[in-house]
Amino acid sequence: MIKNHHPGEMAELKVRSGQNVREQELGRVEQDLGEYSEKGRVSFENIGKSYKTVRGQIPIISGITADLEAGTFTSILGPSGCGKSTLLNLVAGLDHPTEGVLRVHGRPSRGIPDSVGFVFQEPALYPWRTALENVVMPLEGRIPKAELRDRGLQQLDRVGLLACRDRRPHELSGGMKQRVMLARVFLTRPAVLLLDEPFGALDALTREAMQASLLDLWICDRPTVIFVTHAVDEAVYLSQRVIVLSHNPARVATDTVIDEDYPRNQTFRFCQRFSDWCKNLHSYLAPSFERENVG
Ligand SMILES: Nc1ncnc2c1ncn2[C@@H]1O[C@H](COP(=O)(O)OP(=O)(O)O)[C@@H](O)[C@H]1O
Ligand SMILES: [Mg+2]
Repeated sequence: MIKNHHPGEMAELKVRSGQNVREQELGRVEQDLGEYSEKGRVSFENIGKSYKTVRGQIPIISGITADLEAGTFTSILGPSGCGKSTLLNLVAGLDHPTEGVLRVHGRPSRGIPDSVGFVFQEPALYPWRTALENVVMPLEGRIPKAELRDRGLQQLDRVGLLACRDRRPHELSGGMKQRVMLARVFLTRPAVLLLDEPFGALDALTREAMQASLLDLWICDRPTVIFVTHAVDEAVYLSQRVIVLSHNPARVATDTVIDEDYPRNQTFRFCQRFSDWCKNLHSYLAPSFERENVG
């Protein structure tokens, strides 16, 4: 049976595969904790966001409360225009809530927080730079050149693009460009990783390959991922937890732990439980459609 768990149950969610890799890598992450006691934790406390328009103050997001523990993978699922990007922008410090308290790394967020990476739907690569030169950009001038190159090559290798290091963006497919974007964002090992429909423009098979790559990267580095999508199957496949947003304004329609073996393997896509999860979440996305067709 599919249950919609209370978010507190996240603490009990076990990563059942890849345990050894994860533990080795976690040791490395813990050395970087620095000044933050709750690095990677993101909490929304009654968050609201409204915009002033000619029609007055329009609420986009209302009363969102969720606590995302460090190192977890959560998807935000919602219809187009409901406020998903707005929510990510708040976490990234690109915009500010009009109500509530947003904490990043356990601290009330002011300005742009440290150690937060962002990947958008459209790859933002400089056309005159090679893949490697695009990947190393965030650390350019901050670490010695030889180390920068080594780290860039290492990241390209992780996304399977080592052989393409000297190609420019016009010589790369859409999927390859997004791989370069992933390599670039993982270069700095962000504690929080925001992805805004990153695979939305890709064909179905490329998307599946990208999803597998993203999970591989996540297993090793364990950032707190907030993955925005409007695709139910993508959310179910990728996430430990899915928060479905309603529309006008965006509220939490359901906050569901996908209590299945994690990270997934490809066979999960084809089992009945996968379809059941998709159907369950879809009913929150389009309640009127479900009522008409089921009732
Ligand atoms: N600066 C703004 N001023 C007024 N309305 C905005 C502004 N930014 C976004 N919106 C509105 O907020 C809503 C949510 O937008 P967005 O977060 O981009 O949705 P999604 O990412 O879910 O498709 C949309 O109706 C959009 O028009
Ligand atoms: Mg959006």
